[in-house]
Amino acid sequence: MARVLIVGAGLTGSLCAALLKRQASGPLQLSVWDKAEDAGGRMTTANSPHHLQCTADLGAQYITCTPYYAKIHQSFYDELLAQGILKPLTSPIKGMVMKDGDSNFVAPQGVSSIIKHYLKESGAEVYFRHRVTQINLSNEKWEVSREKGSSEQFDLLVLTMPVPQILQLQGDIQNLISEGQRQQLESVSYSSRYALGLFYEAGLKIDVPWAGQYITSNPCIRFISIDNKKRNIESPDIGPSLVIHTTVPFGVTYLEHNTEDVQELILRQLENILPGLPQPVGTKCQKWRYSQVTNAATNCPGQMTLHLKPFLVCGGDGFTQSNFDGCITSAICVLETLKHHI
Ligand SMILES: Cc1cc2nc3c(=O)[nH]c(=O)nc-3n(C[C@H](O)[C@H](O)[C@H](O)COP(=O)(O)OP(=O)(O)OC[C@H]3O[C@@H](n4cnc5c(N)ncnc54)[C@H](O)[C@@H]3O)c2cc1C
Ligand SMILES: *[C@@H]1O[C@H](CO)[C@@H](O)[C@H](O)[C@H]1NC(C)=O
Repeated sequence: MARVLIVGAGLTGSLCAALLKRQASGPLQLSVWDKAEDAGGRMTTANSPHHLQCTADLGAQYITCTPYYAKIHQSFYDELLAQGILKPLTSPIKGMVMKDGDSNFVAPQGVSSIIKHYLKESGAEVYFRHRVTQINLSNEKWEVSREKGSSEQFDLLVLTMPVPQILQLQGDIQNLISEGQRQQLESVSYSSRYALGLFYEAGLKIDVPWAGQYITSNPCIRFISIDNKKRNIESPDIGPSLVIHTTVPFGVTYLEHNTEDVQELILRQLENILPGLPQPVGTKCQKWRYSQVTNAATNCPGQMTLHLKPFLVCGGDGFTQSNFDGCITSAICVLETLKHHI
């Protein structure tokens, strides 16, 4: 039975896993490895340490569907809407640019519920705290090493982490990337920013007429959302949660600083925008070194095949664009090439 490893439990990796399960004609042993503690990647949903139901989306906030993608990805939207995983965004986001015909969606249980849905459907064995460090070729198989634990062998490999993290992998893979491919991979760039999640006690009201707001006049803060209000799940038993995204210039300037110091800087700026907020009961500061793609790989149809026998393919938003439809496009392209090698 062919052993397949997908590296990355983000939207691209989880959807690749689900599509593989749907389309495979024979039996497969499917594994997903991620270095993180939970599924989601840049569609992560953090929990308050004091109340697990108090959650906040620290990466992607809402999904914008253009008329073009409403048509070509209709089955994906229909399925997630039918299951209640996506719901229309109905609460006001101040400063959001809406184009004619666009629709916006939120995930009431947190954006990571989309990824968990696909992983569950795939039936894959999912392993967290599995950071891939090295990929070697051994007897026509991939020998994949991780930071802690022994290496394992696979017949097929799909890499979905941000492109710079693919280039950091050690071992034979370094020599398998052609000069042209390396140039293309090195041209992929990302913005950097921080996200801060603040969790409050139940019963607290944050009295503002919006659920989210783009800020244009602050050097540090670009976006604020009252996350539970954005997702339409205000409840008397669960405290509100706030998400703050920094500007990219701030993220770049403080990229190598201590996260606790950065959190203090963000909180100080927040006081100017929302004065008098009480102390949160929990906080989570997330550094997004690779936040959103600013330059995608050129001339790449949503994936890049690095090796044929055994098969190794890379996918993710670095080969398309940084949003829901970009990841779907990439996962479909990965599957298209993969199909011929199973
Ligand atoms: C702050 C922010 C706001 C955003 N806002 C929106 C939005 O509003 N709407 C929208 O549609 N999109 C938004 N995006 C973009 C969207 O989140 C991404 O395009 C999408 O989540 C990318 O999914 P992916 O699976 O390709 O990559 P990722 O989600 O990055 O998944 C890659 C996974 O690989 C894992 N990994 C990395 N290296 C290794 C390794 N060596 N070994 C094992 N695992 C590894 C990571 O832990 C990660 O889970 C936003 C992103 C950010 C950061
Ligand atoms: C992988 O190959 C490198 C040389 O490219 C070697 O140093 C390393 O020990 C190999 N790892 C495993 C697990 O065999």
